[in-house]
Amino acid sequence: METLLNTALFDALYAQGYAVVPHFLPEFLRDALYTEACTLYHNQSMYQASIGQGPNNQVAIDIRGDFIHWLDGSTPAQKTFFKLMHAYQQHLNRIFYLGINNYEAHFALYPKGRYYKRHWDNFHGRGNRIVTTVFYLNPQWHAEWGGQLRLYAQDEQTVLEEITPQPGLLATFISSEIPHEVLPTRRPRISIAGWLRRN
Ligand code: OGA
Ligand code: MN
Repeated sequence: METLLNTALFDALYAQGYAVVPHFLPEFLRDALYTEACTLYHNQSMYQASIGQGPNNQVAIDIRGDFIHWLDGSTPAQKTFFKLMHAYQQHLNRIFYLGINNYEAHFALYPKGRYYKRHWDNFHGRGNRIVTTVFYLNPQWHAEWGGQLRLYAQDEQTVLEEITPQPGLLATFISSEIPHEVLPTRRPRISIAGWLRRN
């Protein structure tokens, strides 16, 4: 499993500010996490995500349309997932001296037609999110279903890459360097978005 934490990933992060690793999650783990997310959604344990901090916090589905549920490490699959992310954290700290000491992650489900407009996960480096991770959990995905993650250069205009949410794929980037958006999806799109933080 850790074999995909290889030099190509860290080379790409260093050179471009982002990296894409197909099939990062082993199939058993992707499948277990997918099943958990589906169950949470059907049990109405996911809630509409919001935008903005503090008094500006609001639900605005015309900007951000996903339902989320924060992982708490309470299931075997989540424990395995957090172990894997701890290994990623240690590699990042050893290679780039990032001083990351925390990881938070939520399941996300974008129903048909939903999207997340262009945004920064850490605007001007003012927040404590250092590295973003997004894992895609659907057992299959076709490009014509939409839902691509579009990465932009810091000018917020130049498109760097459009990532189709393939099963088990990891998209990871420096949170203060890569504005990005989720294009409208034509199928329910299930993922785990997470942030390695320095508190
Ligand atoms: C986010 C986000 C990207 C994705 O949750 O902040 O940008 O591809 N997610 O789901
Ligand atoms: Mn984001």
